[in-house]
Amino acid sequence: MSLSIVILAAGEGKRMKSATAKVMHHLAGRPLLEHVIDAAIQLNPNKLVVVAGNDEGQVVPFLECNQIETVIQNEQLGTGHALMQAKIAMTDSTQVLVLYGDVPLTKVTTLQALIDCADQNGIGILTTKIADPTGYGRIVRNDSGRVKCITEQKDADERVLAIKEVNSGIMLLPSQWMLSSLDRLGNDNAQGEYYLTDIIALAVADGIEVNTICCIDEAEVAGVNTRCQLAKLERHYQALQADRLMTAGVTLADPNRIDVRGELNAGNDIFIDINVIFEGKVSIASHVSIGANCIIKDSEIAEGSVILPNSMIDSSVVGAGSSIGPFARLRPGTILREKAKIGNFVEVKNTNVGVGSKVNHLSYIGDTDMGAGVNIGAGTITCNYDGVNKHRTVIGDNAFIGSDTQLVAPVTVGEGSTIGAGTTLRKDAPAGQLTLTKNIQRTVEGWKSPEKKK
Ligand code: UD1
Ligand code: CA
Repeated sequence: MSLSIVILAAGEGKRMKSATAKVMHHLAGRPLLEHVIDAAIQLNPNKLVVVAGNDEGQVVPFLECNQIETVIQNEQLGTGHALMQAKIAMTDSTQVLVLYGDVPLTKVTTLQALIDCADQNGIGILTTKIADPTGYGRIVRNDSGRVKCITEQKDADERVLAIKEVNSGIMLLPSQWMLSSLDRLGNDNAQGEYYLTDIIALAVADGIEVNTICCIDEAEVAGVNTRCQLAKLERHYQALQADRLMTAGVTLADPNRIDVRGELNAGNDIFIDINVIFEGKVSIASHVSIGANCIIKDSEIAEGSVILPNSMIDSSVVGAGSSIGPFARLRPGTILREKAKIGNFVEVKNTNVGVGSKVNHLSYIGDTDMGAGVNIGAGTITCNYDGVNKHRTVIGDNAFIGSDTQLVAPVTVGEGSTIGAGTTLRKDAPAGQLTLTKNIQRTVEGWKSPEKKK
């Protein structure tokens, strides 16, 4: 037995009212279609084909970039017509699994159960029972409970509209029979479309066995047609993430106010305050505390660190026992060793910070290699950019940089040296000595402050 997977993703998604194709709208930070492709790949198919529209909706470039085989459905004449474009998927497999690009949260285990439910000549349909089935195709059964057909909302009468069991769109079909049957689909229906769902009545007439798997969690088969449905599914997905984290030993101040848009690996006894967003691949070791309103992307936070409120951390590594924020920004390439401290209104980029070094207030540190035990005074700026090139600043262990200093790169501050407050350092500062550039302070004799005219 061999399996091909076809993902239907050519629909315009008119109900989204968007210039972006529906399947490219994001759920948990990734296109809907990417969620479906990920699930498909995990099933190890012989062939994976996506049916895309010939549109400006960014689907084709996305598929090209991910090296996914694509067929184009030039006109959107319905789901049946879409599958006809993917006959190449049927020629070299015994079964075809049809997935929808706008049904993003189906679990791989559920899809596997569907594959297992039908023998290689039978059909499997993933269904669900929902309180409000409006918009979905209804699963119509005969008196003995066998599936007769699927009827679309717009073609249904009162009796059929009352059916709560709906078609998820996800189906497993025998390839050879499909190859000869797709051309038998008509478009004499309310929407004038070639419905894939009509294939079920044809199968029943041909004596093909139709099995169903009824999915308990309706979110797994929920389709996104409107922005309201997208928002509901997003919340559902985030609730699942919150449950997973709490089960794994993370305390959430409010499970309704956390967003995981990617992969978050977390240790135990972590505290996460409200409105924290995780993007990309983030790992947080045990005993870390994250304050309100932080955004953490593609980063690693080591054991026992404290991230204070309103901080942003992007593509950075935070060493154990460090303290970040409040209002700190770690930009890509920031690597902090243990017990570093980055305080309020500090921006750090492409920089190594040694053990126990501190940048506590109002500073910009870019393209810098900083040793251990360094203290950077308030308002220090590394002038790393000459308008064309970036240059590095090197600061030795235990150096002390006075407040309001500019370090004009490339420049090196020697170990244990002290830079006087307000210095503009254009040449290297020797180790262990005081270097400063400010004029000597003087008081002007006889100076009077101007008087206001009466
Ligand atoms: C479809 C099903 C319905 C099911 C529902 C589940 C049909 C006729 N109806 O209805 O029974 O309950 O999904 O969510 O199949 N697409 C194309 N080309 C087209 C039309 C659609 O590729 O010409 C793609 C869309 O991009 C989308 C999927 O097929 O990913 C479903 O299309 P959509 O128009 O959303 O179908 P529904 O009306 O939701
Ligand atoms: Ca749909």
